[in-house]
Amino acid sequence: MCGIVGYIGSKSAGEVILDGLHRLEYRGYDSAGIAVVLNGKLEIRRSVGKLNQLNKVLESRPLKGSIGIGHTRWATHGRPCEENAHPHTDCKDKIVVVHNGIIENYLELKNKLISGGHRFKSETDTEIIVHLIEKHFSGNLLNATQKALSEVRGAYALGVICTDDPDHIIAARQDAPLIIGLGEDENFIASDIPALLPYTRKMIFLEEGDIAELRRNKVRIFDKKKKEVKRQVKNITWDRVQAEKGGFKHFMLKEIYEQPQAIRETFLGRLNPEKGVTYLKEEIKIADSFLKSMSKIYIVACGTSYHAGLVGKFLFENLSLIPAEVDIASEFRYRCPVLDRNALTIIISQSGETADTIAALRLAKKNKCNTLAICNVMGSTASREADNVLYTRCGPEIGVASTKAFTGQLTVLYLLALDWAIKRKTLTAKKRKEIIDNFWEVPSKVSEILKKDKEISSLAKEFTAKRDFLYLGRNLNYPIALEGALKLKEISYIHAEGYPAGEMKHGPIALIDEDMPVMVIATRSKIYEKVLSNIEEARARGGTIIALATEGDKEIKAKTEHQIYLPHLDELFSPLLNVIPMQLFAYYMAVFLGCDVDQPRNLAKSVTVE
Ligand code: F6R
Repeated sequence: MCGIVGYIGSKSAGEVILDGLHRLEYRGYDSAGIAVVLNGKLEIRRSVGKLNQLNKVLESRPLKGSIGIGHTRWATHGRPCEENAHPHTDCKDKIVVVHNGIIENYLELKNKLISGGHRFKSETDTEIIVHLIEKHFSGNLLNATQKALSEVRGAYALGVICTDDPDHIIAARQDAPLIIGLGEDENFIASDIPALLPYTRKMIFLEEGDIAELRRNKVRIFDKKKKEVKRQVKNITWDRVQAEKGGFKHFMLKEIYEQPQAIRETFLGRLNPEKGVTYLKEEIKIADSFLKSMSKIYIVACGTSYHAGLVGKFLFENLSLIPAEVDIASEFRYRCPVLDRNALTIIISQSGETADTIAALRLAKKNKCNTLAICNVMGSTASREADNVLYTRCGPEIGVASTKAFTGQLTVLYLLALDWAIKRKTLTAKKRKEIIDNFWEVPSKVSEILKKDKEISSLAKEFTAKRDFLYLGRNLNYPIALEGALKLKEISYIHAEGYPAGEMKHGPIALIDEDMPVMVIATRSKIYEKVLSNIEEARARGGTIIALATEGDKEIKAKTEHQIYLPHLDELFSPLLNVIPMQLFAYYMAVFLGCDVDQPRNLAKSVTVE
């Protein structure tokens, strides 16, 4: 999730863009850059680190020129360093591009472009776009960009300028946000509204597949069929803080809503639906021979990341047939785990800075155990110290309660388990295809569930007087019951306990009465009947049941007081769907109780003390 700003008009493009980028810094901040066209030449300034580093570069080498594009980066492909910072140029330094998104077929395209004589300067997927435009350029930047994008698969929001066809910016969008700001004899592009609020409130939201041509005094938009179209101009009335939250009341809600995009971006370019394979070998160097002989996987993490690890154990054991253990990081090193060269330790951490998790990673390394980190923050301690790292591509998570990072972590675990199942030949070709087909459907199913927002908020309202909750799930949804309970307690301060539904009768059932609502994950699965029996047990003790159920399930309606119906998807992917209503339920409970949702009491986003 990077930030883009572009400007064409009579002001100093460098100044307007830098100001806009500062307003987008919440989208990413590991490097930044700006390019302007001046007297037929490109002038570029880039730097690693937060935007104040770019400020310093611009103070010593100011940019003149009144047309330009800029970018603040949240790294996905390629480390945070100056060469990987945007903007990226073609071979002749005439065309320049800024990009937000993931190009899925970048390796295939990169190899073709290299054979065609193009020289690459960075490790990014973005650079292929500028070389593709160069390949198609014969005087008209709009045509060349349209042709280039027809070869690209993936998600993108783009800004392009060129010295040989100056006086306009080309902008394009596909599965990544991009808006156009309309001014008086000046126009703008930006990833998000806050960047443009000081300059204009008249904005156009580009639609999927749109390509726009911006001149100082004119904007033309073409749809995916290259037909010129008119898009509605909206008048934005939000203030800056409202705009940073995308109009949502809290960052947590915004981040819940960003999950379809975060999941999609995390698997794009790593999963090929047609070929039924994954491309993780480009990112992690774990020898096939090691994968085949691996004795065990230790998964170590804290909090929400630990819950993702519990789902991971299920996936590694069921898909890749590798024994796996999951540990809470603060316990791991005190129980003397048997670590050796034949085992792999996976640590999961959104921040990559959690002290207990880092200590576990160091212990594994000291014992010569192979290590892999699953992180969201590029350049974090865990990502630097682990032998291998796989990033979730969720963008910065600002709400203290983790939401999109959790579903991003699950997505990476599914990818790994699938990749290793393929390498260890533990799945039939038919099963592999079936899993990949289902995987592709996850983002749209999550979007469908988000449409139940109002229904879930009304349900939450009915329960605000309750002080204790029980969350039940079984099998691969037991960790989701734990996660649902954690979300509720951390933001609404209501006591909630997650339990394996079948274990309830061994103790917690004693707690159930009319004052203890029970949230049960009862979506269709191989053990659905068993979950129904657990529901009966809870009801017999006076418990009020809220069931997560699969659309079309009439039986559950007769057995429970409240139901949240979810779309059907293979049971394997149910954790990615079932957690969404739980996040929304906890969020609305906290809102109705007047709690500080984004910064709950006593908690910190990154726990860097043991
Ligand atoms: C809960 C939450 C925490 C974190 C935990 C680990 O919503 O956010 O439980 O999951 O502190 O943090 P990371 O993943 O950064 O290591």
